[in-house]
Amino acid sequence: MRVGVLTGGGDCPGLNAVIRAIVRRGVPEYGYSFLGFRDGWRGPLEALTKPLDIPAVRGLLPRGGTILGSSRTNPFAIDDGVTKIKKNLQNLGVDALIAIGGEDTLGVATKLHEMGVNVVGVPKTIDNDLSGTDYTFGFDTAVTIATEAIDRLHTTAESHHRTLIVEVMGRHAGWIALHSGMAGGANAILVPEVRFDIDKVCEWVESRFRLDYAPIIVVSEGAMPKDGEEVLLTGDKDAFGHVRLGGIGDWLGREIESRTGKEARTTVLGHVQRGGTPTARDRWLATRFGLHAIDAVAAGKWGQMTALRGTDIVTVPLQEATKQLKLVDPALYAEAEVFFG
Ligand code: F6P
Repeated sequence: MRVGVLTGGGDCPGLNAVIRAIVRRGVPEYGYSFLGFRDGWRGPLEALTKPLDIPAVRGLLPRGGTILGSSRTNPFAIDDGVTKIKKNLQNLGVDALIAIGGEDTLGVATKLHEMGVNVVGVPKTIDNDLSGTDYTFGFDTAVTIATEAIDRLHTTAESHHRTLIVEVMGRHAGWIALHSGMAGGANAILVPEVRFDIDKVCEWVESRFRLDYAPIIVVSEGAMPKDGEEVLLTGDKDAFGHVRLGGIGDWLGREIESRTGKEARTTVLGHVQRGGTPTARDRWLATRFGLHAIDAVAAGKWGQMTALRGTDIVTVPLQEATKQLKLVDPALYAEAEVFFG
């Protein structure tokens, strides 16, 4: 059997570890050969390939990014996209595909499976917003990077008696903000799932200053004030219809400064959260997902995705993962509120 592998959507620490595990198990255990597809769904769409064998995956475990490249190409938004993919897979002798991606990449995989393509999915995203799995790899690395940034910002905030705001990624889910904010001892954590009251945020800021500390506010890029909307970086949308979020941190900084009369500055962590080497935990999860993905191919579990349940890796229908986003439960968010102000 010849198995194609692709990585789609925003890159994420641990992608290379998945690719390595798939090949390292698939060649000796099942005698499969592999073909890498470049740049997400653009690869099978335009027959852009890269050889994938054991020598090609040496040294990949700690490497960030993806050796296959990624894109947000949506074959369903392109004329005859699916026909072209099916034809290219046939011409290249590819019998099955492993798609490593988030909601969009796996959404395409779900539809292709329904149209007769042999696909197995592996969930990835720093946002941790995929249903069907307890965690996605990449999330732990993003949280670790954000937490380290918050730790560092505490000392400079105290030195200058300033409010420091940290804007983190996560799109419409506040997982990165919640985990890093709690780990970093933030004085307020603002997430998309719970609209915030700017007067309340300013009260927390004032109370923190009264205690002779300096406030740190962690805000998720998709967080919204109770009477406002998401702040967009540009009006552009990607091929899946997603807007580019960003700017809520600057908005907060201006509001807090004008309302409290005390200096406020914003740090936008941006793509730093996605770059570089994965944490040990993400390498572990990514490697296990890779091993189980090739087992799923061998078992003919088409239309399934590897998932973490407790400490077990299981497979679940791709549909389960892509039908709705996994968002922060307000009850979980309420636990963090003890530390606000
Ligand atoms: O989904 C991962 C993610 O990093 C989001 O947290 C963020 O909103 C988005 O991708 C950024 O996308 P891009 O890399 O296209 O700027």
